[in-house]
Amino acid sequence: MSKKITEKVTWVGKVDWELTHFHGDELSTFKGSSYNSYLIKDKKTVLIDTVWGPYDREFVARLKEVVDIKTIDAIIMQHNESDHSGALPELMREIPDVPIYCTAKGKAIIQGHYHQDWNFVTVKTGDKLEIGESTLTFIEAPMLHWPDTMFTYMDGENILFSNDGFGQHYATESLYDDRVDIAEMLYEAKKYYANILAPFSMMVTRKVKEILAMNLPLNLVCPSHGVIWRKNINMIIEKYLEWASNYQENKITIVYDTMWNSTRIMAQEIARGIQEVDKDVEIKIYNAAHEDKNDVLTDIFASKAVLVGSPTINNGLAHAVAGLLEMTKGMKLKDKKAAAFGSFGWSGEGIKLLSNLLSGCGFELLNDGIRIQWVPDQAAIEQCRDYGRELAKSL
Ligand code: FEO
Repeated sequence: MSKKITEKVTWVGKVDWELTHFHGDELSTFKGSSYNSYLIKDKKTVLIDTVWGPYDREFVARLKEVVDIKTIDAIIMQHNESDHSGALPELMREIPDVPIYCTAKGKAIIQGHYHQDWNFVTVKTGDKLEIGESTLTFIEAPMLHWPDTMFTYMDGENILFSNDGFGQHYATESLYDDRVDIAEMLYEAKKYYANILAPFSMMVTRKVKEILAMNLPLNLVCPSHGVIWRKNINMIIEKYLEWASNYQENKITIVYDTMWNSTRIMAQEIARGIQEVDKDVEIKIYNAAHEDKNDVLTDIFASKAVLVGSPTINNGLAHAVAGLLEMTKGMKLKDKKAAAFGSFGWSGEGIKLLSNLLSGCGFELLNDGIRIQWVPDQAAIEQCRDYGRELAKSL
């Protein structure tokens, strides 16, 4: 069902309650998502973004309930990953000559995806589209999070359409930030930032500051996923500035895999040692093989230190830990400390491998790590606790 959000603007997107994975299996979306598309009716009729391909017919049919699509004067494609451009071919079948406003990179990406030579109008920051009483101003936002990304500002209504920026994979029929469980939704916004935007934090800081310097009146910030911000606009902008600035909470994440429980015991005893010294620090302990990788990554993103454990197996590491660190490396996190731990039977090179991987993630190694042979006995347990105590003191 479409939803009118202002006199001129109607939400015409798709709420996807059943979505559990995104980017293939790279990102979990346990709270579903939405693909937000917006229809503006001023003197001109303009559509901003579409929805994911599997919902293309549903999207076009719903659009027809609120507008004669032959009267659409322009389509603005702010970012052309499939979740926003997927319904474009279905729509363009009916209105093939309508101009598509996008960045030059956007044009290349649309052509690379759909192999069509539609009527593209490429735009840059500051370019405007007069649509009647209101004017749309385009603001390029490259690498937030693709090279083609741009935002669109609508004056008069004072709306910033921000595409993936400020978005969350969060399904709701309620549309607005002040109509949902704010803590639950904010967690999804943080998870989205950590898993999608974190590698581009420098660009995020620059872009948010650039937009703030424009002193645009903002009544609404309309992202392409999740809720529309109307009550907490300043809060989410502040959050973005925090998240983009080497974010850390008073938190240590301990993540491990284990074969016969020895590395698990080590994790628990190290945690106990840390807590004996620092009662305030929040400690999260995850078994990488069982826990959702993206929730673990969200905690790694928010931690001041990360301890990673694996038994040595076949002269290497447990695959869940190695995979997690590959994803962590891609996040390009800064200002985080780390150390390795793990059990071994004979060769025991896991710790060194882990330490190298942690260095490769850009983390500062706190020490050479700790390894225990076979099953920890009381002396080894005490060694782990002591390791935790010393580690806590060094932070
Ligand atoms: Fe929501 Fe980058 O697509």
